[in-house]
Amino acid sequence: LYRRFRMKDERAFRKELEETLQLNNNTETEPFRQQFHLTPPKGLLNDPNGLIQWRGIYHVFFQWMPFKTGHGSKWWGHATTKDWVNWELLPPALAPVQDFEKNGCYSGSAVVRDGLLQLFYTGNVKDEYGNRSSYQCLAVSEDGVHFEKLGPVISQPERYTAHFRDPKVWYEAGSWWLVIGAQRDDKEGHVLIYRSRDLRKWEFLGPLAGKGVTLSESFGFMWECPDFFELDGMRVLLVSPQGLEKESYQYQNQYQTGVFTGSFDSENATFSHGSFQEMDKGFEFYAPQTFEDEHGRRLLLGWMGVPDQQEDMHPTIKDGWVHCLTMPRELLHLQNGKIAQQPLKEWKQLRGAQQSKDIHVTAETVEWTEWKAIVAEINIEVEEGKSWTISWRDYLTMSFDAEYGVFTLERPDLISGEPAFRTSRIEEIHSLRCYFDRSSAEIFINDGEHVATSRLFPRKQEAKLRCKTHESIMFQVDAWELHS
Ligand code: FRU
Repeated sequence: LYRRFRMKDERAFRKELEETLQLNNNTETEPFRQQFHLTPPKGLLNDPNGLIQWRGIYHVFFQWMPFKTGHGSKWWGHATTKDWVNWELLPPALAPVQDFEKNGCYSGSAVVRDGLLQLFYTGNVKDEYGNRSSYQCLAVSEDGVHFEKLGPVISQPERYTAHFRDPKVWYEAGSWWLVIGAQRDDKEGHVLIYRSRDLRKWEFLGPLAGKGVTLSESFGFMWECPDFFELDGMRVLLVSPQGLEKESYQYQNQYQTGVFTGSFDSENATFSHGSFQEMDKGFEFYAPQTFEDEHGRRLLLGWMGVPDQQEDMHPTIKDGWVHCLTMPRELLHLQNGKIAQQPLKEWKQLRGAQQSKDIHVTAETVEWTEWKAIVAEINIEVEEGKSWTISWRDYLTMSFDAEYGVFTLERPDLISGEPAFRTSRIEEIHSLRCYFDRSSAEIFINDGEHVATSRLFPRKQEAKLRCKTHESIMFQVDAWELHS
């Protein structure tokens, strides 16, 4: 491995790797170093992988480039936590060493069987001309720290291209199942489904969703990172399709993430579903995965980034790292196939000093001058039926147009600095629960019925909260400073 990274010997390589594993809390010198989000000490992080709670401990693996802030031959980084507040960063679980994964141990999932933690992931391989092959691989561990690679267990099926990745495995109705993102040879995105008795031999059952299966129209050229689970009696296919055309109120990021909800017939391995619902209204959210924890909660974590979207412009690159994961969120089934995302109750442990205030605004801008913390949870109850604008740190602006039912998030474009917008249809807004870290905002609208996730890179370290409206309106604000 050290030779592949062009380092002179193994000692030098180990030393460099150990340095990248030093927990970095440089909030003094790095204004955008996150305080309560999982962030790479060094290098680039993307998708969450292998989410699982095992023997009481939550394992969060993640796509990681330890030595550079660009994409490439990915590793699986590894962090654990018991309470979502105190974290331990462990040695990387997978490094791209073998021939069947030499250009990256790509995304995947984890299950426990026979007392072993079993990771399924995609071995990404490119030849000298850049042609890709993909292998679905297995690695197992007795202690949850050291993994033994057992090699490929699934190869590419006919009629599909090498864009075949991100296996998600689960147990149901007496069998092991696996869904995987794929591209049919006519460049249509699909999700494929497999079944197994022993996690080693897999039977290909066919496509589960996509054009010509459950959709009559094209819906993107590749579907990444599928997840397929039950939520309160409803079946959910969570997926990140690539190649959807931008529309006025949806699909405004480079690539999207959302859900199809419906029902699964496990005997015939078929899924019937309704229309796609996008999952996030912000600038950075992609490739989320879920798992059921030991309390029976369905938890989700996503990547707070989007591939091919302005990532070279993230100012953290000069500090040697880029991207982070979202906070974990609990999924709840609302009605009519709608899903809410809510912050975990564990997050209350982060709360420090609280202040509350009723802010009365009448046709002018009002600034909450007493509020000083930039890392904060701020819950704002707003009067329904009114239009308003709320801005944070003179950088991120949330506004609601009650007449048209339109929510807009605005922040400077990372390249030009000009205002950039994400607009979505939301009939009515009664509350905004905002979690602000040093360089991110996660806004849970109407108790998580909608969520907007974005990075933010304001120059000034001022905690300015400003409210504006053209009418008379009351904002009820409860705010907590958040600890590390
Ligand atoms: C999604 C993705 C996955 C792939 C991984 C590579 O962001 O492209 O499809 O497995 O990232 O890092």
